[in-house]
Amino acid sequence: MSHADDHAGTRRDFLYYATAGAGVVATGAAVWPLVNQMNPSADTRALASIMVDISGVEVGTQITVKWRGKPVFIRRRGQDEIDAGRKVALSDLVDTNAENANIDATATAEDQNRTLDEKGEWLVMMGVCTHLGCVPLGNAGDFGGWFCPCHGSHYDMAGRIRKGPAPRNLPVPVAKFENETTIKLG
Ligand code: FES
Repeated sequence: MSHADDHAGTRRDFLYYATAGAGVVATGAAVWPLVNQMNPSADTRALASIMVDISGVEVGTQITVKWRGKPVFIRRRGQDEIDAGRKVALSDLVDTNAENANIDATATAEDQNRTLDEKGEWLVMMGVCTHLGCVPLGNAGDFGGWFCPCHGSHYDMAGRIRKGPAPRNLPVPVAKFENETTIKLG
């Protein structure tokens, strides 16, 4: 990919991010009234959960939702991204831990341990750089994944840190499919 293409990708991502941001407000508005109706004695973890409608997420794109005050990236990866992520050897990684709250804490960072589904299409992770907390840009950086412009951290197709000062992979939060078109966070 040429430099010019790379920049175009970043611009597109920014535009998409802005659009996704507008959608998030609507999602939040729809979700919170339901949460407020819940029994107050319900588990506090449940109160902190949200449902995200993913029916409009096209292959090769992502949405960003706000959850517990932080951005969460939900990316629907194309086959090329899945293949690129799965090709990477563990020995090439800075952080070899899966950093995935849904599986064993000692699980290693192979691509299949980072995604929500077996096929590897859905990647859900906190959109917070593990260096000092900036929000990385999608479709950017040397590894085709995310790039944090604050101090130059490059994350790959599976959100794993590959270059720069960030010490850890972007964390995968507690998440699961509620049904085919809904992901529950928390
Ligand atoms: S906060 Fe991301 S590189 Fe420093």
